[in-house]
Amino acid sequence: MTSQLTSQAVLTVQAPAKINLGLEVLRRRADGFHDLNTIFAPLTLFDTITLSLRSDTGFTLQISGNDTLSGGDDNLCVKAARLLGQTISQPTGTPLPGIDIHLTKRIPTGGGLGGGSADAAAVLVGAAQLWGNPVSPETLHQVGLMLGSDVPFFLEGGVAHAAGRGEILTSHPITLPWSLLLVNPGIHVATPWAFKALNRATERPATNLVELLLSGMDNPASLRGQMVNDFEEAVMLEYPAIKQIKQRMYDAGAMFALMSGSGSTLFGLFATVQDAKVASAQFPECWNAVARFHEGGVVVER
Ligand code: C5P
Repeated sequence: MTSQLTSQAVLTVQAPAKINLGLEVLRRRADGFHDLNTIFAPLTLFDTITLSLRSDTGFTLQISGNDTLSGGDDNLCVKAARLLGQTISQPTGTPLPGIDIHLTKRIPTGGGLGGGSADAAAVLVGAAQLWGNPVSPETLHQVGLMLGSDVPFFLEGGVAHAAGRGEILTSHPITLPWSLLLVNPGIHVATPWAFKALNRATERPATNLVELLLSGMDNPASLRGQMVNDFEEAVMLEYPAIKQIKQRMYDAGAMFALMSGSGSTLFGLFATVQDAKVASAQFPECWNAVARFHEGGVVVER
């Protein structure tokens, strides 16, 4: 570790959420994972992570804003810090100073918005910085992938096409002229369960999602049935409330609506922020946010 860092060093990192603009589960792989075809767009809805170096080699986690998340060693934030520390210290055998982590949770959990992976990526970036940046971006990417399939995306940022487990990323800085309403009904969908329930027995072809998005730019309604989320059918069968929200999103005037990730958050596309705001009044019982596309991602308006 470099010398300029002291045990007083403290760092704050913002961890953004994401949405999936289309999500195709192409095939089950021999390693048990699935090959995906999706576009990730970062969302300016942030968890905040504060990291402070300790004088010993321990790791702690405190969580605000969420009563159900475990703050123990099984939390992805702690796993991320430990795994990176082990990776860096392995060649010399000298352990690095530990880190106290404080996580302020704002991204709904189990909601398909990638909060857990975003937090892990933020811990990796922050811990590497506190320890004097002794790792290459490639190593960070590898460690990230060991923690979760979405983590490499959060290390890169920007709108990106993702293939493989989600780690083969191609940047696509497209700005779409749409406003969004995000609605989360508070249902916690477990991603491993969703993959099992989807039960991809045979391979399915991949759509060119970038081309599709560009073709639907002027008329998002044309994306209906074209830009899909393969999880929707199985997840909505198990949780009919999510299906009802999608229908209500259309009833509220959305030009297009889709689930993000393995759910339960849905997003609807609207012509203007005002339209999305008006529609949000139809979901008083749900967490919701109005946003619009901006260069490099989706900006939450309120
Ligand atoms: O990588 P991550 O921890 O997010 O994955 C959680 C679970 O989701 C994996 O254990 C696996 O069952 C499933 N998964 C998958 N294919 C992917 C990503 C996740 O099968 N590309």
